[in-house]
Amino acid sequence: MSEASWTAAPGAPLRGEVRVPGDKSVSHRAIMLASIADGTSRIDGFLEGEDARATEAIFRSLGAGIEAPEPGVRIVHGVGIDGLRRADGPLDCGNAGTGMRLLAGLLAGQAFDSTLIGDASLSKRPMRRVTGPLAAMGARIETGAGGTPPLRIHGGQALRGIEFDNTLASAQVKSSLLLAGLYADGETVVHEPRPTRDYTERMLAAFGWPVDFAPGLARLRGGYRLQATDVRVPADFSSAAFFLVAASIVPGSDLLLRRVGMNPRRTGLLHVLRLMGADIVEANVGEEGGEPVADLRVRHAPLRGIDVPEQHVPDMIDEFPALFIAAACAAGVTRVTGAEELRVKESDRIATMAAGLRALGVAIEEAPDGANIAGRADGFAGGRVHSHGDHRIAMSFAIAGQRARGPVIIDDTANVATSFPGFVTMAKAAGFGLRED
Ligand code: S3P
Repeated sequence: MSEASWTAAPGAPLRGEVRVPGDKSVSHRAIMLASIADGTSRIDGFLEGEDARATEAIFRSLGAGIEAPEPGVRIVHGVGIDGLRRADGPLDCGNAGTGMRLLAGLLAGQAFDSTLIGDASLSKRPMRRVTGPLAAMGARIETGAGGTPPLRIHGGQALRGIEFDNTLASAQVKSSLLLAGLYADGETVVHEPRPTRDYTERMLAAFGWPVDFAPGLARLRGGYRLQATDVRVPADFSSAAFFLVAASIVPGSDLLLRRVGMNPRRTGLLHVLRLMGADIVEANVGEEGGEPVADLRVRHAPLRGIDVPEQHVPDMIDEFPALFIAAACAAGVTRVTGAEELRVKESDRIATMAAGLRALGVAIEEAPDGANIAGRADGFAGGRVHSHGDHRIAMSFAIAGQRARGPVIIDDTANVATSFPGFVTMAKAAGFGLRED
């Protein structure tokens, strides 16, 4: 990643209205399923971020016809369940763990070979969590040393369904196995220790594939076809999260977030912020493209430290960097446990947040599966922090800057384009003090 940086410092109270871009998880899945469906699908609200675009480019090179008539819209001419063809070279997933892990399952079922590669951050991430169970289904996939990318996938294998008891709560693992299961003989069943986001299951059903699912369980059989359908991508709760925290901690804020995706498997942060005393009100509750959406009005409120209930961890797994900033501004200590998965995200999010918070004068004790964060009513000291190639770390420290006594310089911010293009413009319009250097 390039060494772009930002300077964040207190701006104005956050006011007005914000509509954040489309959901990353849903955008990946929409491109994948539309590409292997029969017929033409339209995707509205597609995330114009690098991660989703990497998946789009991969499906173009696998033979799907994808048009982009205007920003946020894709017209996908599906090639049918067996219509993908071998790409000329390696398939570059960029920064996207979701892209790579889901593709590992989908490509394991093809007649041809594929190689999946990624950027420096993705190249360090664990892939055996998918290649292990996929091998049990009959897939042949080689990883790099230590179980990391690149993934060399040998096509032409006869896959068979398995019943898999995952020890990890991971929607990526579940989805990877379900996508391989489309090409497998018999039934593929995934059990989870705690329920995870169910977009793959819901979207398969919307494309007409019979799938049986309930929280913590998903089950399907191979041998059907997908029928093209239109997909409306809701606004990404994980992008809204930065504004929920920022408006909660900046005095005088009163911000309206429009049409935010409210899938219950994504909104753990909302419950936790409310337990901490946040003032967030839902209005205009409705549905878009089969997903619950709502407007969220968030006003500044004094926060208090809590023990984050472990049951919320999978439902806020991408929101911990933002939560750590809220915790650092709360009265008392916030304790996070049961979140060891944070160590294998786009960066080691416990270590990266701890280093950054310490640089800004916050006392934080790390544990293997979480941290204790001592809140400071007087906010943050100024200082210099590094994102370690992680978009959510960069945006979280932009929030910290809004409560800092001196400028917060954030190094390595180009990665924000992976999930939230236009963040700086939107944040400044809402009142953030934020400069691109
Ligand atoms: C995702 C699942 C989660 C999440 C990631 C997106 C998905 O990962 O952290 O940002 O779209 O399925 P895990 O499956 O590793 O928990």
